[in-house]
Amino acid sequence: MKSLSLVAQKGGAGKTTLAVHLAVYAAMRGEKVALIDTDPQRSTAEWWRARGIARPAMAECNVSALANALNAARQRGFTLVIVDTQPRADRAAYLVAETVDFSLIPCRPGPMDLRALNRTVDIIDLLSAPAGIVLNAVPAPRGDQEVSITRKARESMRHFNLPVAPGAITQRDTLAHPMPDGRAYIELYPDGKPSQEIGRLWRWVSAQLSADHHDRDDELHPDPPAQPGGRPAV
Ligand SMILES: Nc1ncnc2c1ncn2[C@@H]1O[C@H](COP(=O)(O)OP(=O)(O)OP(=O)(O)O)[C@@H](O)[C@H]1O
Ligand SMILES: [Mg+2]
Repeated sequence: MKSLSLVAQKGGAGKTTLAVHLAVYAAMRGEKVALIDTDPQRSTAEWWRARGIARPAMAECNVSALANALNAARQRGFTLVIVDTQPRADRAAYLVAETVDFSLIPCRPGPMDLRALNRTVDIIDLLSAPAGIVLNAVPAPRGDQEVSITRKARESMRHFNLPVAPGAITQRDTLAHPMPDGRAYIELYPDGKPSQEIGRLWRWVSAQLSADHHDRDDELHPDPPAQPGGRPAV
């Protein structure tokens, strides 16, 4: 089983949107997927309840219970767990990033978003946790070419010591709203552009999860210490 988290200090970066769409996409590709919502806002859980479809599966827990929840998911035969988090780069984000196999950091291309990215990357750097960045809600590309704001944002991310997903996710109403029957647009139109972009992101994330860094299956312990020893305060 692999575990992926969506983390970002900045509210509205796209954590929940990408968590649910990656979960739906991976499930369409045959993964047995569980979403775990650790954000007190419970946006992913609300999306799931409104969706009214059992797959992907859904669980809610506090960050302190995440290791237990992952162990339970593994025992139930899930192959992929995607963890949504709250918009803070604090101790909770730190615990999540150290618990999962890979953390994906969504970032919009605006200057304020890029500044906020520093804080999230700081946390990841402290941990040396496997992580990468994806540009989200960018303007539509012109043909195959990313527009200037996207290219500039990508360029400014080069000074981070983290990989950046090669494909950005375009700002699209179809990613913001589920279909009336609860399905995601990408389920209804699996060959459409939104599905292609999410698919490209999933393949990249999947490669990062496999490239492993290392599989953490054997490392999880049910009760992580309250104050991990020797780590800088976050
Ligand atoms: N690629 C996109 N295209 C269209 N709308 C998007 C996209 N990404 C995010 N949004 C919209 O932007 C808003 C914020 O996105 P989302 O809730 O996914 O961010 P978040 O990082 O989970 O926010 P929070 O930090 O509050 O949990 C939502 O209304 C969502 O529908
Ligand atoms: Mg959210």
